[in-house]
Amino acid sequence: MKRFWVYINLITSAWGISHHNVSNHTFPTDFMIGIATSAYQTEGGWNESGKGVNIWDTFSHESPWIVDRSTGDIAADSYHLYRQDVEALVQLGVDFYQFSISWSRILPTGFVNEVNQAGVDYYNNLINELLKNHIEPMVVMYHWDLPQQLQDLGGWANPVMADYFQDYARVLFSMFGDRVKWWITISDPHSISYGYSEPQSYAPGVNASGVGYYLAAYTLITSHANVYRLYEQEFRSKQRGKVGITLNGEWYEPKTDSQEDKQATEMAMQFVLGLFANPIYGLKGDYPDVVKNQVNRISAAEGYHRSRLRKFSPDEIATVKGAYDFFGLNYYTSRTTRAPKPTTDVKNNPDINVIFGDFSNATKSAVPYYEVVPWGLRKILNWIKKEYKNVPVVITENGFSDDGKVNDTERTKYLVSHMSEMLKAVHEDGCNVIAYTYWSLLDSFEWNLGYTVTFGMYQVNYSNPNITRIPKSSAYVFSEITRNRNLPLDYLKITGEISEDVTDIYSLQHRNSTPHHSAASCKGIFFNYSGFYFYVWLATVTYGGYIFIS
Ligand code: NOJ
Repeated sequence: MKRFWVYINLITSAWGISHHNVSNHTFPTDFMIGIATSAYQTEGGWNESGKGVNIWDTFSHESPWIVDRSTGDIAADSYHLYRQDVEALVQLGVDFYQFSISWSRILPTGFVNEVNQAGVDYYNNLINELLKNHIEPMVVMYHWDLPQQLQDLGGWANPVMADYFQDYARVLFSMFGDRVKWWITISDPHSISYGYSEPQSYAPGVNASGVGYYLAAYTLITSHANVYRLYEQEFRSKQRGKVGITLNGEWYEPKTDSQEDKQATEMAMQFVLGLFANPIYGLKGDYPDVVKNQVNRISAAEGYHRSRLRKFSPDEIATVKGAYDFFGLNYYTSRTTRAPKPTTDVKNNPDINVIFGDFSNATKSAVPYYEVVPWGLRKILNWIKKEYKNVPVVITENGFSDDGKVNDTERTKYLVSHMSEMLKAVHEDGCNVIAYTYWSLLDSFEWNLGYTVTFGMYQVNYSNPNITRIPKSSAYVFSEITRNRNLPLDYLKITGEISEDVTDIYSLQHRNSTPHHSAASCKGIFFNYSGFYFYVWLATVTYGGYIFIS
């Protein structure tokens, strides 16, 4: 149905109106909503003001594996336009902004003996600009862009990298920790490790299938733990922040009810998520038993003298176990899993020994392997709750890709339906989710897919000399959600989330008062007139009204 949304801001206080039971669609008190980018994907300024070269500079300049042969040399130019980014964040009304620091912008060679003051200034300016606007910085120390010089020494396949990562982290805590209270050490070690497995995957594109992945995984896990312990010993008492890691999760749904397919699901969950999560969040620490047994057995059968899965020492197990204040979860999609049929199936990863598949009826997105499966988020949150003692979870990424249009209805549906599943996990299942992050603020460089797909709530106009940012329609809905702390019921209705007719009047909840939003006390009414839905927002202050049509 053709639908109009009309938002009218009135300088008036709202009236009290009866409303539907929307508790399931309301964010808990203190719940934080934010949005993310990463340095290489958005900053540009790749060789400016003393920045050193990193592995994505090298990979994008030299490898044939980026589909449009593009680079992040300029990207969204946030290195120069960060103030515009902060303006967009203010419009969105987010509580926090998750961004990453480019290691080689601060330490051009990766080592701490040479600090690039221009890089330090850039991040100080960004952090200060955020705080001035009452937006909390959530800082990722490493989002895939290792200084090239460290890669020349083996990169994450070399366990000594854990020492250099700790040195780098000490610089960050010392310089920014007075103002940054949310730290993510490493974003998505699973994908980073793939860069040490297949040349066409991610930078650095090392060809070491079956071995490089586990070496990198081992170093990334110990690196994270070293940094967590460093914070604990030297910084926490003064700075009082939180430190966690972001892991990439997909939900794996058994293809059938058979015991074999259920086991296949468990195997896939443990190999992809558990391999990184269990050493940190698991009761006993270390890799999951099923992973150790499987890789040890297959390695021996293949003629290796030692398992391809590098062992943790007992000391390392103890250091890594419990090295967290929260669990950072990236969730984009789900897949089906089933046990292989011994004679007919070709396995692409003999260690996992599971056959992955698609959902025939799922909505597709521009990234072909990211099918839209909102209910998978609820399932994975429940799996984490059960597996890791209901650890506090920050959803660190969740996002939808398309071709970049401004009228991005599908992105809004993705956003609302995923938030809805998350809130069911919170309210109905008792999952301890404390924050949600949409990926991404801006259209940006999507690694091997270059600029061919977009995740942003702001369109970036690369051909304009000012690299302008334009809000998409999802940005308006997102800003409604951050202000009202409620999901828009009409969107839930379209996505089949609520069955009752919401054409009568309901009132919106007052959002939690954080200083920057205290002015947003508002209520609204929603009604149907001649087949069109109208929403009238009555606010005590004006935010700049808008109208859009979908
Ligand atoms: C996860 C990665 O952290 C991020 O860099 C990427 O852009 C998104 N997934 C979307 O694929």
